[in-house]
Amino acid sequence: MQIRWTYRTLIAAIAGIAGITLASPAVAQSFAQGPEVCNECHKAEFEVWQGSKHFKSFREIAAKPLAKELVAIVGATDMRRAPVCMTCHFSEARKAAADRPRLVGGPSCESCHGASSDWLSVHNNYGGPTVKKEQEAPAAKQARIQKAAQAGMIWSFDHYEIAENCNSCHGLASAKLDAAVMGKLVDAGHPVDDFELVRYSQGTVRHRFYPPNVTQNAQMTPAELSRLFLTGQAAALVAVAQSAPKIQSAKFQAVAKPRGDKARAALDAVKGQVPEAGALLGQPTEANAKAFVKAIQGKDLSAAVSSMLPAPNTYK
Ligand code: HEC
Ligand code: HEC
Ligand code: HEC
Ligand code: HEC
Repeated sequence: MQIRWTYRTLIAAIAGIAGITLASPAVAQSFAQGPEVCNECHKAEFEVWQGSKHFKSFREIAAKPLAKELVAIVGATDMRRAPVCMTCHFSEARKAAADRPRLVGGPSCESCHGASSDWLSVHNNYGGPTVKKEQEAPAAKQARIQKAAQAGMIWSFDHYEIAENCNSCHGLASAKLDAAVMGKLVDAGHPVDDFELVRYSQGTVRHRFYPPNVTQNAQMTPAELSRLFLTGQAAALVAVAQSAPKIQSAKFQAVAKPRGDKARAALDAVKGQVPEAGALLGQPTEANAKAFVKAIQGKDLSAAVSSMLPAPNTYK
């Protein structure tokens, strides 16, 4: 997998200096610029984010008794300064590479879409300041999308990449974190999520202001929901396969195991229609998961999985 210098990896690099185990070399180049930068052009999305727990937790969480107990385990007193906690709980931003990062909030735009310093000016460039969206040739658009992705952008339609990224925090599956430390935190009371992509992304987090009606936060169609659900299950299976053997905590296993079982059941339900599901079940690797997600594009698998989808009133 290509190394993405998202916020988390950047903060993890700082953590690396503080002696925390890291999987990637410290070549931090991309950096996050903060949600206010996005708010210039994406006001509707910004407003949704402000209504989510990601935004609200920043003010509340560090003062919670559980936070104080847990932060002591990593030898710190304030979770807003403890690199392990910051990896998942907070966003930092800077204006220029040489600046010192400042804490700007809870998980924010770039926690999910990637640190933007190298893609911001690429992702909305249709070919120059005077070129309009309608004038951009399809090949140029493809090139723009690819260039931004290579610079670390996680595009909204790249649901596998998005799900994998949610899991790195919610599944406690980040390869950048020391599994032994995570196990200790879990045993000491840190919550373990039974993260399911539809339930977690279609409630307070949902922002889908797509053309033609860019003022409407659209619900997904049943076909879209079925694909998002299966994408989430594919990512969950891979995340569980990677993290479950490492995080030696009975409490973690008690959530991870049924999560893996549910993912297998969902993939099993479609493997007759999508052979790639069988391959993924046989070998839960990222490559097989991506091949599966590619294979379901454009398909309506709602008949096969509708009984497994979370009810809308349980969306977070
Ligand atoms: C100067 C204006 C501007 C700023 C600042 C900006 N964007 Fe965008 N963004 C755009 C435009 C215009 C598009 C539509 C691009 C297209 O047509 O493909 C876009 C598209 C996107 C998309 C894909 C939307 C889709 O339809 O799939 C995402 C995700 C995104 N921006 C995230 C961000 C984030 C995160 C930030 C802050 C780090 C940001 N943008 C800052 C103008 C901006
Ligand atoms: C929790 C992760 C998360 C956060 C935080 C987040 N996004 Fe997104 N974003 C997503 C997902 C998932 C989608 C894909 C939605 C879909 O395909 O239906 C998306 C889609 C988008 C889109 C395309 C849809 C649209 O509304 O035009 C834009 C633009 C965008 N995000 C910008 C932002 C901006 C700006 C912020 C911060 C204010 C932000 N996002 C915060 C996960 C996130
Ligand atoms: C791998 C990512 C990750 C790391 C590292 C992490 N957390 Fe969390 N934490 C989460 C997620 C995700 C949740 C939300 C779980 C949920 O909603 O069930 C959470 C929830 C919490 C909660 C409960 C919040 C509430 O609203 O009641 C506390 C307290 C907390 N974390 C403290 C910490 C502290 C302190 C550290 C550092 C020692 C830390 N966390 C490290 C991901 C992480
Ligand atoms: C950078 C780490 C990070 C990423 C990436 C991330 N989250 Fe979160 N998320 C958290 C933390 C930490 C909390 C808990 C905050 C608290 O309790 O104070 C949280 C809380 C939430 C909650 C509220 C849960 C509840 O029980 O109220 C939802 C919903 C959520 N996240 C959805 C998502 C989705 C969907 C994605 C991916 C599209 C995602 N998150 C990506 C760190 C992250």
